[in-house]
Amino acid sequence: MSFSAEWLRLREPVDHRSRDKTLLERTAAYLERKDEPVIYDLGAGAGSNLRGTALSLNTRQRWILADYDPELLSASLDYLSAWADRSRPTATGLELEKSGKLIRVEVKRIDLNANPAPWGEAKPDLVTSAALFDLVSENWIDRFCAALAKDKLPLYTTLVHDETARWMPAHNADLRMTEAFERDFGREKGFGPSAGNKAIGYMAQKLQSLGFNTKLADSPWQLGEGDHALIGQLAEGWANAVRETKSVPDDVVQSWLTARKARGTTCIVGHKDLLALPA
Ligand SMILES: C[S@@+](CC[C@H](N)C(=O)[O-])C[C@H]1O[C@@H](n2cnc3c(N)ncnc32)[C@H](O)[C@@H]1O
Repeated sequence: MSFSAEWLRLREPVDHRSRDKTLLERTAAYLERKDEPVIYDLGAGAGSNLRGTALSLNTRQRWILADYDPELLSASLDYLSAWADRSRPTATGLELEKSGKLIRVEVKRIDLNANPAPWGEAKPDLVTSAALFDLVSENWIDRFCAALAKDKLPLYTTLVHDETARWMPAHNADLRMTEAFERDFGREKGFGPSAGNKAIGYMAQKLQSLGFNTKLADSPWQLGEGDHALIGQLAEGWANAVRETKSVPDDVVQSWLTARKARGTTCIVGHKDLLALPA
């Protein structure tokens, strides 16, 4: 499944303000004693998770951004250079300075379905990801959690869908749109049948059963007037997904979409963050 850099840019400020601050602080405290922690970001896209996390972590950090989309990885280098106070290209990525942090960045093109543990023998100090795990299947989660347990690696993940969006004000097609969208949400996204909204709870339970200390926290998008562009794109995405199911007539989808793109629409999208530390 592919994601556009424009969509990831649009959601970035909302993702950053929505993540749970307590879990971020706990992650920072866990890494505190490391001189230069190595952080492996799975499904890193255009680098938003680094920009949302790094300023809370150690003075020196090394990030490996892993994704299978070469265009997003290339965009990540451009966006990170623009975000940093100073930036220098290296053979494998970038060296950045930002607000007193020194951050070495490497990008790796990797298919996580083929390899859920791409760090191999070079174990990082933290595995992280944002907005990824609702795409994967329970079978993939089993493989991934087994790899984390074998290597005793901590996981910090944010913004995993756990609830279908709730739109306001009510529209008479909401129920049909939601049912059709949920059917589409569960389809295969490159990792086997998607665990969708159930993925994060399943992952937390799995890691707990493997001896990890786990903590889940809510990180909902609360979208209002200031998020008009994102609400419009989200509604477009819903309409496209519902059209694919062919279960709602086109004129109903169009009337719902027009209403949802109008000023005054608000929306809550449920997400969860998870910190799982090896015992
Ligand atoms: C919703 S985006 C999130 C991107 C980024 N973490 C963020 O928060 O903006 C999901 C990301 O997972 C990547 N992805 C999806 N399937 C993948 C796979 N099989 N292997 C590697 N990356 C994958 C996509 O290319 C995309 O960058």
